[in-house]
Amino acid sequence: MTRLAGKTALITGAARGIGRAFAEAYVREGATVAIADIHVAAAETTAAEIGPQAHAFALDVTDQASIDACIAAVEAQLGGIDILINNAALFEAAPIVEITRASYDKLFAVNVAGTLFTMQAVAKSMIARGKGGKIINMASQAGRRGEALVAVYCATKAAVISMTQSAGLDLIKHGINVNAIAPGVVDGEHWDGVDAFFARLEGLQPGEKKKQVGAAVPFGRMGTAADLTGMAIFLATPEADYIVAQTYNVDGGNWMS
Ligand SMILES: NC(=O)c1ccc[n+]([C@@H]2O[C@H](COP(=O)([O-])OP(=O)(O)OC[C@H]3O[C@@H](n4cnc5c(N)ncnc54)[C@H](O)[C@@H]3O)[C@@H](O)[C@H]2O)c1
Repeated sequence: MTRLAGKTALITGAARGIGRAFAEAYVREGATVAIADIHVAAAETTAAEIGPQAHAFALDVTDQASIDACIAAVEAQLGGIDILINNAALFEAAPIVEITRASYDKLFAVNVAGTLFTMQAVAKSMIARGKGGKIINMASQAGRRGEALVAVYCATKAAVISMTQSAGLDLIKHGINVNAIAPGVVDGEHWDGVDAFFARLEGLQPGEKKKQVGAAVPFGRMGTAADLTGMAIFLATPEADYIVAQTYNVDGGNWMS
């Protein structure tokens, strides 16, 4: 199927993981995709592996000049942006009494300010173009409730859900749909890091935390990036035009809301 034929999508943090899977799925659906990442060399490798409809761009979502330059470069090279997936994020975990200001500032800079100001810059571009658009923010089940060792990351993802609601309500008058996806536990390099955090914090063997969280998912296993692509495609199509300011759980049944 080519449900996204003729569309240009900017996906942040798409050099690997879920963002890369979204880029692959969007290209299969006919879109041209900008793979924007702070790790430019990795983004270039990913784009080359996906094929000629994928293009790498340098982007640091914590830096306004970088956001503006990235969007200008995408527009110059690929044309106006129809779809934005705000996917770039960082994860860290620590008990409340060990959280550092440096960790707090870093996670909020990427996950919250990065999401907000990339969304803002792309929304300005979409409004000026006058063709509407689709913005998909990556939230998390971590944004639905706190976790004992994950206070800061959970708070950043709760903020993403809240910003999705506010931006969704504000931008729909321009024909821009803002919605979010809240994954549960998705295996990949990100979760390799999460597993290592918990191995250290809870004295677990490497791989043990993944086994625990996978077994606790009602579906019976951890998610994969491929489990999320259907929702990411759907939210970018005209069939989702009437969906505004929502966050969808795609998590094997972990959370209901
Ligand atoms: N993996 C999971 O279990 C899971 C669960 C819920 C939500 N999520 C969310 O899904 C999204 C993707 O997760 P993932 O597992 O693919 O993560 P990942 O760590 O594998 O990939 C994140 C990407 O973001 C990039 N990035 C980091 N800082 C950046 C910056 N300042 N500017 C631009 N790019 C930057 C990284 O280079 C990397 O390519 C994230 O928003 C994450 O919070 C993931």
